[in-house]
Amino acid sequence: MKFITEWTTPLRYKAYHQWPATYIDLLKSTLHDSKWRLSYHIQPKTGLLNDPNGFSYYDGRWHLFYQAYPFGPVHGVKSWYHLLSDNLVDWEQQGYALLPDSSYDSHGVYSGSAIAVDDQLFLMYTGNVRNENWERHSYQLGAWMNQAAEVKKLAKPLIEHPPEGYTHEFRDPQLFRYQDHYLMAIGAQTIEEKGVVLLYQSSQLTDWELLGELHYTNEDMGFMVECPNLVFVNEQPVLLFCPQGLDKEITPYQNIYPNMYVIGDSFDKEKISLENTSELVNLDEGFDVYATQAFHAPDGRVLSVGWIGLPEIDYPSFQEGWAHCLSIVRELTVKDQHLYQTPVQEMQALRQQHQTYQGSLPKEVQLLAAPEQNSYELRLELDAKATGTLYVFADKQNQAGLRLSFDAKHGTIMMDRSKAGVMFGESYGSVRTAVLPKQTKLTLHVFVDRSVCEVFVNDGYRVMTSRVFPQANATNIFLQGGEGLYTGDLWVLRSMNKS
Ligand code: FRU
Repeated sequence: MKFITEWTTPLRYKAYHQWPATYIDLLKSTLHDSKWRLSYHIQPKTGLLNDPNGFSYYDGRWHLFYQAYPFGPVHGVKSWYHLLSDNLVDWEQQGYALLPDSSYDSHGVYSGSAIAVDDQLFLMYTGNVRNENWERHSYQLGAWMNQAAEVKKLAKPLIEHPPEGYTHEFRDPQLFRYQDHYLMAIGAQTIEEKGVVLLYQSSQLTDWELLGELHYTNEDMGFMVECPNLVFVNEQPVLLFCPQGLDKEITPYQNIYPNMYVIGDSFDKEKISLENTSELVNLDEGFDVYATQAFHAPDGRVLSVGWIGLPEIDYPSFQEGWAHCLSIVRELTVKDQHLYQTPVQEMQALRQQHQTYQGSLPKEVQLLAAPEQNSYELRLELDAKATGTLYVFADKQNQAGLRLSFDAKHGTIMMDRSKAGVMFGESYGSVRTAVLPKQTKLTLHVFVDRSVCEVFVNDGYRVMTSRVFPQANATNIFLQGGEGLYTGDLWVLRSMNKS
């Protein structure tokens, strides 16, 4: 069989068992020598990865699943792929946990969540089914996973159909414990085609009762809200969500669909409402983050992971037959009605050789470091007057690279990928800008990994993420500035241990 480049609908929905095993081998061989394969990020073995699912802690270990389509870099019939970790950094690949093999999920095991209950892990997800006329039916389904990672799907759907007044754009259940009940938030669309979040309640996980629409804004949230995720950070409710078709007058964004958050002072379950909400904010001010999922870890932290990828953009890795990755795990905190996202401290387990820097920002562009590989962590601390540019993924002459221009005085940071290797997604713009408090010290905490870059600005006050597809040897780091002093730390990062 030849490498498929023309994807018809029947091909995308061909059953997994009908694919010859040799096709996966062919895909593996095409990505084998790729310089873009990631070193410490979760990526698909072959084919496409999208949303993180079922992020949880169960039986003494961290569990994470993702939406997978193994046969090509396209949104074909989805399943859940399972990963396990002791430290949130090294992830063991466990294989498929849920396959599209029942009449309730024949056209895709879509996104959902997981919660540990006694000695099992309960998975709740959307079963996507298409009829002869390609009309969608969404079922909300359940499954139990035991300590041997065996998964048993429930025979019957937990929720057979959307409630009256809503369409079958009804998916991505997020389960959580709230007081003496389980609650579940789910993305939905009214028959007037407005995107909403519905809230359900249950005492046993099998008896779901609709509470109603979750109130978190007075604005229209486009035509559909995907992947809603309600967590409580220091008691304050934080809703992460992905509105599709949101009017840019309401909140500006440049990605095809934004991943946003809103914070409330409190959550009123009777009113099904987040009270005294913040404005709506982009969760990531960069290019590629979507479908972020967060959960309450038993140690009290709220941890999140996002999909780094967006639909309807052709990424250069598609030529190698694979697509996308997950973000590193982040911890969420709230300060002054603002969400902070920081890399979990476990990330330090990856650190190897360490080098420090300090000086005044050089007027002329200067080489800061030339790591052998694009697999490092760089932390720069700049003073409150600093203006300048950091270049990563730069070639020797600094003709190509990802530019991060900062201006601490005026409180802005700009990420420009227009010269960062192979171009893609240009119709959504190649520059993103984020606003920061003015005249405060600036920290740039940058994680670079082969073809991805995650930048945590001012200890996670803003995050800017971008895929980058550099040419070979574009591993240099340059710095240039107008004014100001800096100190820096650079760690080479080892790759993830997996088995
Ligand atoms: C978001 C999403 C979800 C859906 C899943 C299907 O990226 O569209 O709404 O459950 O992807 O893969």
